[in-house]
Amino acid sequence: MAFEGLKKKGIRLSLDAEEFIAKNSLPEEEIIALEKHFVNLEDVQEIVSRKREEKNKPEAEAPAPSSPRPLASEYEPELRVREDSDVTGKSRTEGGVEDFVSYFRNRYESLSALLKTYSGKYPEADLEGIAKLAGQKARIVVMVTEFRETKKGNMLLQVEDLTGQFKVVVSRRDEKVFEKAMNLVKDDVILIYGKIAPAFMIAEDLEWPDMRVGREKKDAERDLAAVYLSDLHFGSKEFLGEYFNRFLDWINLKGSGQELAGKVKYVFVAGDLVDGIGIYPNQEKDLEEPDVFKQYALFADFVEELPDYIKVVVSPGNHDAVRRAEPMPALSKEILGCDVTSVGSPSMFCAENQEHLIYHGTSADSWISSLPHLSYDHPEKVMVECLRRRHLSPSFGGNAVVPEKLDYMVIKREPDIVHFGHVHKNGYSNYRGSLIINSGTFQDITDFQKKQGHIPTPAKVPIYEFMGKKLRTLDFTR
Ligand SMILES: [Fe+2]
Ligand SMILES: [Fe+2]
Repeated sequence: MAFEGLKKKGIRLSLDAEEFIAKNSLPEEEIIALEKHFVNLEDVQEIVSRKREEKNKPEAEAPAPSSPRPLASEYEPELRVREDSDVTGKSRTEGGVEDFVSYFRNRYESLSALLKTYSGKYPEADLEGIAKLAGQKARIVVMVTEFRETKKGNMLLQVEDLTGQFKVVVSRRDEKVFEKAMNLVKDDVILIYGKIAPAFMIAEDLEWPDMRVGREKKDAERDLAAVYLSDLHFGSKEFLGEYFNRFLDWINLKGSGQELAGKVKYVFVAGDLVDGIGIYPNQEKDLEEPDVFKQYALFADFVEELPDYIKVVVSPGNHDAVRRAEPMPALSKEILGCDVTSVGSPSMFCAENQEHLIYHGTSADSWISSLPHLSYDHPEKVMVECLRRRHLSPSFGGNAVVPEKLDYMVIKREPDIVHFGHVHKNGYSNYRGSLIINSGTFQDITDFQKKQGHIPTPAKVPIYEFMGKKLRTLDFTR
């Protein structure tokens, strides 16, 4: 008989409650649990709605697994700025004749010291009185002040050292040395081997100071990484904010590639942080933000958005708010308005046992107009020419250089990593043990570049893992 259990307990049901219980197959125990003598429809309906609520109640959220702390946050930065490589606070030139003499003398002495370490093939001769050595073979360390092709198609060099001047002939028939001579630029300091005739030397070979092959290098001891940036051009209408935000998300460990992003301990910026103002005629029409201080505030916002364990090093470029002529002093704290290490351009610093040379690369313009095999498509080739010369901007007057008492454009230390920007095109190479990085841009193609037929490579960010010695480029356009 129906509801026997309830009747035994003395529980009575209303007629509609009976129907509801039967229809919903409610077990008797649940009615008994109400502890009521008379159970009506409302009571049983409540049982059903309570059960439904419990069923729909979301399960208690499991505590999110605590994401592991990024590796880079476990370490303090290891950064030593090579103060002697940086003009900041040391500019004393007044641009007088004495300054020029001192500048060129310092360049000659620095580079000739490197060249004098070359093997002693032939005795070394000074240019003073060299004509007296006619008929003999000698080597000379000289600055090339002029060069031109002769009527016979040979190359005639006008050279000088600290003692005098002389002429050197490079014969077209001697293909190997002629090809090298074709690669000379004005004011190069080189070593020449040759035979002395009374009025000139006939070159047998020539060498630039160059990088030593097989030099000893230190390995990184921590599995950290650096991001190489340049040419952000904050304030420009062409600034690629969407791609830049993707980069910011990545470095803040949002999305894929978190393991690599978590290794990033350093961000190095090789100049053109902002677009500036008055850098070229009618620049105002290309600016989203015409106030240069507000442009730097945008840069400061970017630094603020980086994880706080990342060390940022910035060096200026030709769009930044420092003197245009090189060497450029560091941007001031007041202009930057954020907590970064600010160095000059060029400058050297050591991070994770790797000697870095950071330079905006403004001299690329004069390099490219001087040597036919160079172009804006391959900035890494320009960088190789700099390393070969151990000089960042040899041709005086090619681009604006201030004649400081010391020539800061000389590459005194052999860098493990060379970082340039300026041409807005990524480029990489390895030259005699130095990793070469041109870090591209976050600015879209400008009208000027369109006219020049120059195609930049925006939003492609090089990242280098120090321990694994692995360089890769992350593309934030996708
Ligand atoms: Fe730039
Ligand atoms: Fe630039």
